[in-house]
Amino acid sequence: MPDKIRTAVIPAAGLGTRFLPTTKAVPKELLPLLDQPLIQYGVEEAVEAGIERVVIVTSPGKDALERYFSSDAGLERRLADSGDDDHARQISRLASLAEFSYVVQEEPRGLGHAVLTAKHAVGQEPFMVMLPDDVIWPASDAAPRMMEVYHRFNSAVVAVEEVPLEAVSAYGVIDPEAMDTQVYRVRGLVEKPDPKDAPSRLAIVGRYILPPEIFECLERTPPGAKGEIQLTDGMALLLEEQAMYAYRFEGTRYDGGTPLGLLKASLDIGLKRADTRDRVRQIIDGLSGNR
Ligand code: G1P
Repeated sequence: MPDKIRTAVIPAAGLGTRFLPTTKAVPKELLPLLDQPLIQYGVEEAVEAGIERVVIVTSPGKDALERYFSSDAGLERRLADSGDDDHARQISRLASLAEFSYVVQEEPRGLGHAVLTAKHAVGQEPFMVMLPDDVIWPASDAAPRMMEVYHRFNSAVVAVEEVPLEAVSAYGVIDPEAMDTQVYRVRGLVEKPDPKDAPSRLAIVGRYILPPEIFECLERTPPGAKGEIQLTDGMALLLEEQAMYAYRFEGTRYDGGTPLGLLKASLDIGLKRADTRDRVRQIIDGLSGNR
């Protein structure tokens, strides 16, 4: 593998069923977590890890995502003219975070298929995959640390966290061989196992560093769990040819993919951020259910 990883793929083609009816008109990835949309956390984390190009996999009708990361000179001018320099700066920064491109997954055929859709946009180089539903706080604990593991082994790396045994069936799960307290060599991986068959409680969280050979593996991956082409199954094929490592990150992972998960993430991150902490604490203390 060459050294530098320049590209991140962000799968954002899902239907957002758990956020209906909102997602009838607004992509889930643009719902706000505190003061910015969910997807921006993934993009900022990738940029912090050194990513320069972001490929967003969308689906028909989700062109608002493209609009979000495009420049808008008219809006910037109006904000600047009204003296709102903070927002003007924020808006102009968005389009310059990275070089954005978009590919469309025409049909919902699974995460593995979504990643495969980005094959030509990525090219023959290793890349990162960031699932925007998984928000990790602080971001510096996730993708930037995974890059270090990648440079150490020159191999694929996935982020993992320990989950309760009864929860493993919601995740990809690895069969780990411990290298040190936070790094494992992956001996096997399985998507959404029954707890009684799970090789461990180390669940894959939505951050991956993958070599370009994953595309060829995904091309021959048959539909798996839920009848979809699973990224985990493609990675199991890759593992037959190449070593793979897992990184157990230290930060907190939030599931932004459900309304209550997003609410919890907003409150908890709000309590962690120095600029919002006191106000969020006051809000929580003042809630009617608390009295
Ligand atoms: C996907 C992956 C799974 C991974 C999870 C992390 O599942 O297929 O391997 O553990 O993301 O959030 P999904 O949440 O789309 O069912």
